[in-house]
Amino acid sequence: MALGPDLWGIVQQTFQSRRLWAAVLVVAAAVVAAWRMWPQPPPRLPAPPHPVGNPSSPARVALGRMLFFDPVLSRNQRMACATCHDPAHGFRDRRGFSLGSDGKPRPRRTPSVTDLAYTQALFADGRAGSLEEQALEPMLTPAEMAGNVEDIVARLSASAGYREAFERAFPGEPIGLPLIVQAIAAYERTLVVNDTPYDRWAGGDAAAMSPAAKRGWALFKGKGNCAECHKPPLFGSDDIDPIGTPDRDAQGHLVRGRDPGLARLTGNQDDFGAFRAPSLRTAAAGGPYMHNATFQTLDDVVDFYDQGGAVGLGLSVPHQDAAVRKLHLTAAERRDLVEFLRALEQGRPLDRAPDRVPSGLKPGGESY
Ligand code: HEC
Ligand code: HEC
Repeated sequence: MALGPDLWGIVQQTFQSRRLWAAVLVVAAAVVAAWRMWPQPPPRLPAPPHPVGNPSSPARVALGRMLFFDPVLSRNQRMACATCHDPAHGFRDRRGFSLGSDGKPRPRRTPSVTDLAYTQALFADGRAGSLEEQALEPMLTPAEMAGNVEDIVARLSASAGYREAFERAFPGEPIGLPLIVQAIAAYERTLVVNDTPYDRWAGGDAAAMSPAAKRGWALFKGKGNCAECHKPPLFGSDDIDPIGTPDRDAQGHLVRGRDPGLARLTGNQDDFGAFRAPSLRTAAAGGPYMHNATFQTLDDVVDFYDQGGAVGLGLSVPHQDAAVRKLHLTAAERRDLVEFLRALEQGRPLDRAPDRVPSGLKPGGESY
């Protein structure tokens, strides 16, 4: 049967337009594939943001630094923020758990105070929404600095050095708790780890990171699943997830974690053991790691993730986040991943205690 010329024309047209469409699809697929294969530049950390209510200035930062290192804020005049947050140890405590003013270890390990300008969920369970709000707690908590508002304001107002420093930082405003926490927060926002081998590599210096660390970066984003929570370029996030961090029993064996984490605030059992994914930018400065200082080394942490978290260890953690699962890393891959974590460390302290503070007390406080 012969087709009429009109019908034939229509068939030919359809065929041609199908070919056209097929060609368009092939080109589009090629563009997408090329885009994916084209190496995306690794992301870099932006300048730290400052809240509208607390714009930074050199005078505020200088005052905040003095207050951070000055034991004048504590009742016993021996404990400064820096007593626990040691600048020589990435602003952590090398012992993990700091001792309180009562001589007893605090219930959670002392974390770093660096890179927190990028975070709105402070403390391991995210209970404070800003650095300003956060600073009130250690100052006034009886087992920490045990400060009393009237005493603190009276002591600072009695010091000519502080009166001048406050006047420069907050002209015309009365010395009080709001200004104290604003100055401390302004100082903390300057503590940014942004000149690591990773950052230099991300900035275009191909030799800044070792081949092992580069393989580790690929694992961090890929097979290891780490970037899902430790989001580059901060390598942390405000996500508060249960990853099943175990505790240690008296014999040192790993057992189910007891700290309720976020569940203490929400009362929701799904949040049991949920903590914020901290920035890993100071992790290589030294352990111990996790809110309960359960792991001493980065190798231990990577082994924990490789085994699939608490569930992989055979512990009953019903709500462990699905992103933590058996990774089946080879020994070489685990080493590469640790090598990458080491490339997130600056290798020199961001700051050190000032030689003197206006109170005349020992800068950084007494060691406990
Ligand atoms: C006695 C030791 C001690 C002192 C003193 C201390 N801290 Fe802390 N700090 C801790 C501990 C422990 C935590 C973790 C508590 C938690 O997560 O529940 C913490 C948490 C923090 C955090 C939150 C970190 C994060 O990752 O969210 C900041 C910020 C901070 N402290 C700043 C300060 C400032 C500012 C001072 C002084 C006014 C101070 N600290 C004094 C022990 C201390
Ligand atoms: C589901 C989210 C999630 C994933 C996936 C994840 N982490 Fe974490 N990470 C966390 C949380 C939450 C903590 C804090 C846990 C705690 O304090 O108990 C943490 C803590 C850490 C710490 C300790 C940091 C410190 O200062 O103590 C390191 C190191 C770390 N993770 C590395 C990794 C690596 C490497 C991977 C990939 C193999 C990874 N993480 C995957 C959420 C995650």
